[in-house]
Amino acid sequence: MATNRTFTMLKPDAVKDGHIGAILEQITASGFRIVAMKLTQLTTADAKAFYAVHSERPFYGELVEYMTSGPIVAAILEKENAVEDFRTLIGATNPEEAAEGTIRKKYAKSIGENAIHGSDSDENAAIEGAFHFAGREQF
Ligand code: RTP
Ligand code: MG
Repeated sequence: MATNRTFTMLKPDAVKDGHIGAILEQITASGFRIVAMKLTQLTTADAKAFYAVHSERPFYGELVEYMTSGPIVAAILEKENAVEDFRTLIGATNPEEAAEGTIRKKYAKSIGENAIHGSDSDENAAIEGAFHFAGREQF
């Protein structure tokens, strides 16, 4: 059954480049309600665990290094059909393939430094959200 929550991270490049405000504006203007949010930084162990599914891929080391390179904004978002609608809003992993107007099309530098994360399933949204936020931090 589809739930109405997803999890996102504004990745280190987006934070470093000063895009927090613009990206959050686009997210809320697209109908997502912010349920939880914080500025934080992933440790190497956090990033390895988060992207464990890619541990055999050639880009895994770079991915972990990039995701730990600076602060991120972590947030839980609520909207009907949240996971799928948010993946549409952020666009394809590779910004060159991302649709016009999507967050990655506008702010991502490359397939590696691609500005934003969105959960790929309801199950992962719940796991990823719970990793960053206690129940009392979710509104
Ligand atoms: P994310 O998990 O960060 O939301 O991204 P995604 O679902 O669109 O893409 P995924 O396949 O899960 O890949 C995770 C992240 O790994 C980096 N990547 N680099 N160099 C490459 O070929 C490559 N492929 C993927 C990206 O930062 C991607 O977001
Ligand atoms: Mg993914």
